[in-house]
Amino acid sequence: MRGSEKESPAATRLAAYRRPQPGTQPKHLHPPYVSSIKRAPSKALIYLPHTISEITGPVFGAESVDVKAFDLTKQHSGEPVGERIVVSGRVIDEDGRPIRATLIDIWQANAAGRYLHKNDQHDAPLDPNFTGMGHTLTDSEGRYRFVTVRPGAYPWKNHYNAWRPSHIHFSLFGPAFATRLVTQMYFPGDPLIPFDPIFNCTADEKARQGLISFFDWETTIPDRSLGYHFDIVLGGREATPMEMPGGRR
Ligand SMILES: [Fe+2]
Repeated sequence: MRGSEKESPAATRLAAYRRPQPGTQPKHLHPPYVSSIKRAPSKALIYLPHTISEITGPVFGAESVDVKAFDLTKQHSGEPVGERIVVSGRVIDEDGRPIRATLIDIWQANAAGRYLHKNDQHDAPLDPNFTGMGHTLTDSEGRYRFVTVRPGAYPWKNHYNAWRPSHIHFSLFGPAFATRLVTQMYFPGDPLIPFDPIFNCTADEKARQGLISFFDWETTIPDRSLGYHFDIVLGGREATPMEMPGGRR
């Protein structure tokens, strides 16, 4: 890779994270996603070797986590409106090893497709019993679990009659800044997915499909809620695709 031959021996030893395969991460410029036209770099990227500032990262201990924050349906006096769901899975590294005690933040629209945010003026109701934000730490096997309601689809201004498929935003730190991931999880069978310019930013079919959760009988609770499973790979050839840099929809 460009620049690698200039690295010092010490820096070479620290190059601990494999780079993604071409096509498995979103293109910076994907014109159907209109915002990418202004956001994409106009010059070639500069290769940066992984040094101590990339292979280290913040550590979030149990003291920085609200143990109740994994359940987005119990943050208010009443239950939110919508279809109750459980979203769970594992966070693993590029070699399939569990990433333990890493912080996961999620945020999402409510069941009507509306965010509790001043920039969201979509004409759909807010839910007084739903904030739409949660967090948790992975356990010793890299597992996580959230309880929430299925987010609704919502319109956006990207093009005429543009609608985002239902999705949940995920933000993970992982063990290092090099493994930092911000992405979006989708739901199987959503008819809007094939038309979504953000989903389609990632060229590689397998990597793209990895953003779609699968329905999971194991975590479906009788008479209560459906379960969806979503595994996340931080770094390397199988890495879960990053959301388009600067993307916030
Ligand atoms: Fe969104």
